[in-house]
Amino acid sequence: MTSFPAGSSFTRLTSDYQFKPFNCGDDDLNDFLLNDSKSYTRKLLAATYILENTTETIAFFSLLNDKITAQDVDSGNQWKKLFKLTTGKNFSSHPAVKIGRLGISNSFKGQGIGSMVLDYINGLFLTNHQTGCRHITVDAYGASLPFYLKNGFQFLTRKDEDKATRLMFLDLMTLTKRG
Ligand SMILES: CC(C)(COP(=O)(O)OP(=O)(O)OC[C@H]1O[C@@H](n2cnc3c(N)ncnc32)[C@H](O)[C@@H]1OP(=O)(O)O)[C@@H](O)C(=O)NCCC(=O)NCCS
Repeated sequence: MTSFPAGSSFTRLTSDYQFKPFNCGDDDLNDFLLNDSKSYTRKLLAATYILENTTETIAFFSLLNDKITAQDVDSGNQWKKLFKLTTGKNFSSHPAVKIGRLGISNSFKGQGIGSMVLDYINGLFLTNHQTGCRHITVDAYGASLPFYLKNGFQFLTRKDEDKATRLMFLDLMTLTKRG
């Protein structure tokens, strides 16, 4: 599949949004969408976007501001490589946006929709960007690591190798020709 399902579109969650059926197979993520996402929106903690057709929710994701700092990476060398900007100026952190939650409906998994959603998120910060955002970050579930790796994300540190989630990032500059 190279485009989102026919008749589907993204909508940004608002307080009066009427939820449609959704099950991505992960209870925590299902619960977040149905019970917490409106509260996160109201409290300015995350923005949630929903891909839907007329009858069901196909996918959803939530975003929040983030940053990558020197403490997040393993060594000074790695930090230097990651943060060497064309100006030569040293930065103590880089602006980022975190994918707080991401789920694809069981009925639509394995069709490339998750990858297209990641492309859509990248586009939000590469095209007509309203704020500086160098990286997309995610605390990735173990089962989803191959998905993020396939979509260009890298591990930030080896310190979380034995943890339930691993911190990953995508440097948006790798998707552009800008220097
Ligand atoms: C992980 C998830 C978002 C992937 O969405 P998707 O639409 O099925 O993914 P895609 O079809 O774009 O898959 C792209 C690649 O990711 C990998 N991938 C996707 N799901 C995978 C899984 N469950 N296990 C291993 N690899 C997986 C595959 O390599 C796949 O490439 P291929 O089709 O050439 O084999 C979806 O399975 C999901 O919602 N899972 C439950 C919730 C979750 O884990 N969310 C992530 C929270 S961090």
